[in-house]
Parts: sequence; C-alpha cells; structure tokens
Amino acid sequence: MDLIFYCRSGYEADLLGEVEHACAKQGLYGYAKLTKNSAELTFTMPQLSAANTPNAYTELNKKLPALEQLVFARQKLIGISELRFETNDRVSEILTLLENHKNEYANLPAFTDVFTEYADTENGKQMAKFCKKFAVPLRNQLRKAGLLSKQAHKKGAYLHLIFSDSTKCTLAISLPHDRSEHHLGIQRLKMPNEAPSRSTLKLEEAIKLFCSPQQEAELFSAGMRAVDLGACPGGWSYQLVQRKVTVEAVDHGEIQAELMATGLVEYYSEDGFLYQPQQGNVDWLVCDMIEQPTRVSELMLHWLVSGLANAAIFNLKLPMNKRFKVVQPILDNLNSALSDKFGHVVIKAKHLYHNRDEVTVFVIVNSQLLSAYNHQIK
Ligand SMILES: C[S@@+](CC[C@H](N)C(=O)[O-])C[C@H]1O[C@@H](n2cnc3c(N)ncnc32)[C@H](O)[C@@H]1O
Repeated sequence: MDLIFYCRSGYEADLLGEVEHACAKQGLYGYAKLTKNSAELTFTMPQLSAANTPNAYTELNKKLPALEQLVFARQKLIGISELRFETNDRVSEILTLLENHKNEYANLPAFTDVFTEYADTENGKQMAKFCKKFAVPLRNQLRKAGLLSKQAHKKGAYLHLIFSDSTKCTLAISLPHDRSEHHLGIQRLKMPNEAPSRSTLKLEEAIKLFCSPQQEAELFSAGMRAVDLGACPGGWSYQLVQRKVTVEAVDHGEIQAELMATGLVEYYSEDGFLYQPQQGNVDWLVCDMIEQPTRVSELMLHWLVSGLANAAIFNLKLPMNKRFKVVQPILDNLNSALSDKFGHVVIKAKHLYHNRDEVTVFVIVNSQLLSAYNHQIK
C-alpha cells in the first residue's frame, strides 16, 4: 500500500523523516524513493493493503498517521493504482480501471468529488492547464458510470488523479476529516489591499487551517486582548484587528499608520523577549520574531505556563536542513510541558503554504477557550 503526500518543494526528506517517525510509533514500517524538489512523497508500506470489503480504506486509514499530526504534509492520499495511458481516450481508460478494481476488490468507496492534480513544482505546474481541461469530461463520465455522486460533498471519499505528464497518472483516494479540502492541499488567500505586509497571510492561513469558521468566531472576538511580538509593520496585528481584538504590538520597527488609526492597536517599542502585558494577562500571544526556534518556544512556554497568555500562535524559524529533527523535539517538549501543567491542551503545528522556512504552531491552554474550541467540531 502506498501513502502519497504533498509538501513544499525541498521538504521531501523532512516529510519522510516525519512519516517514518509517526509510523514507527504505531509499529508500521515503509520506504520511499526520495526525489528532491518533487514536492511529493510516496511512502510504500508492504505490510498493509486494503481488505476486500466496502469500508476497507476507512478501516485501513485508522492505523495510519493522520494528516493533522504531520507538520510537513499538505495533503495525504492513499494510492490505488498507477495508469499508463495506451490511447488518447484517457477518460475511458480511467473508467475501465475503476470498474475492474471495483469488480475485483469490492473495496473502492463511493466518490463524492474528483480532483485532477500535479506536483507544486515548476515542472508540475505545466500540467495545470491540461488537468483543468481534463477534469470536466472526467467528472461527467464518472457520474454517468455511477462512480461519482451527482453533487459534490465533503462527507465521502474523493478520487485524486495525479499527473506527472499527459501519458500517465496515479489514482488515489482521500478520506473525510483526514485530508485538505484545497486543491493540491494549498489554501490560496487573497492579499488584503490595506494589509501592512504579505506576512498577514501567514496568520490568516493559520487561523483558517486550525479553526473552523465557528471556532474562529468563538476564539477571536471584540473585547479580547492580544500581544503581537515582532509586530512590524503590522500584518499579524491587522488580522487580529479584523477580528475586533485589541492588540499590544511590540517591535522596535515602524508600524503602519492606518492600523494605529483603527484605535485597536497600542504600539510598544520594546524587546519582545522582555515585554510584559499591560493588564497582566492576554487571550492571545502571537509571535513572528525571526529568532532561534528554541528561544522562541521557551518564551512561548513561559507566557503560557505562567498564565500570561491563554493561547498562542507563533512561528518557529527552520534551519537549512534536518528541519524535522529540529522541530520535533521542540514540539515534544511543548507538548509534555503544557500537558504536565494543564492536562488537556491543544497543540497543532504546520508548515503552511504562506510560510517559507518556518512552521506555525497553534496552542490553547485555557480551559474556557479549550471548551469553546472543542465545542465547535471542525
Ligand atoms: C517577520 S517580521 C514580522 C512581520 C509581522 N508579523 C507582519 O505581519 O507584518 C519580524 C519582526 O520581528 C521584529 N523583532 C525581531 N526581534 C525582536 C525583538 N527581540 N523584539 C521585538 N521585535 C523583534 C523585527 O523588528 C521585525 O519587524
């Protein structure tokens, strides 16, 4: 059985390290043929195969590491088959393969959407036009053949076709609650015209990834206070202000005048490592200071453990290589220190599309915020 993941180009080895680590914890082993800068990873697990039953893939997936646990993965798919086209009638060949598979194994789920995909690389992007064009007849024919639901919906499995060129593709499936709903696992966001910096998209993506709209509404609202360490020129503060949160923006740099004019931002020209919140405690601590990741995580731990902040979103800058090896002990340490102190906590981390060489960590320790977060299922 093959697990297929997408990641940022150049991060394949880190993702492999992470997948091996997560699988080993469950007593599972596999191997991958790494292709540097391919933006994808196929992890073969010879021990596993989907049984010949209707819920086979869902059952199988319960044993596998969830996408949410994997910092460097943008998407997680389970491979079904590879297909090298013999004719120009690619749609019919795909249909035949799926029909045969269905008759032979009886384990394919009913598909509720279909995606035609390619690697997020310069080469891969050359397939974008082809994939877009191909998706329409494919969708129609799959529906006609009863292999795809009449209306697309999120409750079922999706069929993914991954094209490296127009002569071959890999067929794979994704399962509800354990996949990215975005094309190629990439959450594309529109840069707000009035935002002070492109960095604003990092915080927006983090909030949208880690929270459903309902969770977001519960966790960010008028009357809440936040501290933004390394705030300038104000992209992260801008996102908090959009959600009506009052922000203490801390940085020696220059903050955007329009942001100050909202009346929701207080600017403090101070060192983020020494700053103390104005009113003793804040709902949110956010931090985008470019610093040693261990130094930043220790600062975050200090604020959270000592009750200065109820929740935090922060970036950990990654080294040039062995990035998983650096990030993993930091996340393990955060997990054990915060769980020891608070019992139940939420800690999530992801290498976001809008991040470059950094990962974003999302933490909630306060019981009220936790119950608001857990009450609204994502
Ligand atoms: C990547 S930028 C932050 C961008 C910001 N999040 C935005 O969206 O506009 C990093 C900022 O951290 C600030 N910084 C770095 N070290 C700092 C420190 N010790 N105390 C306060 N600010 C610091 C820098 O001045 C810089 O403005």
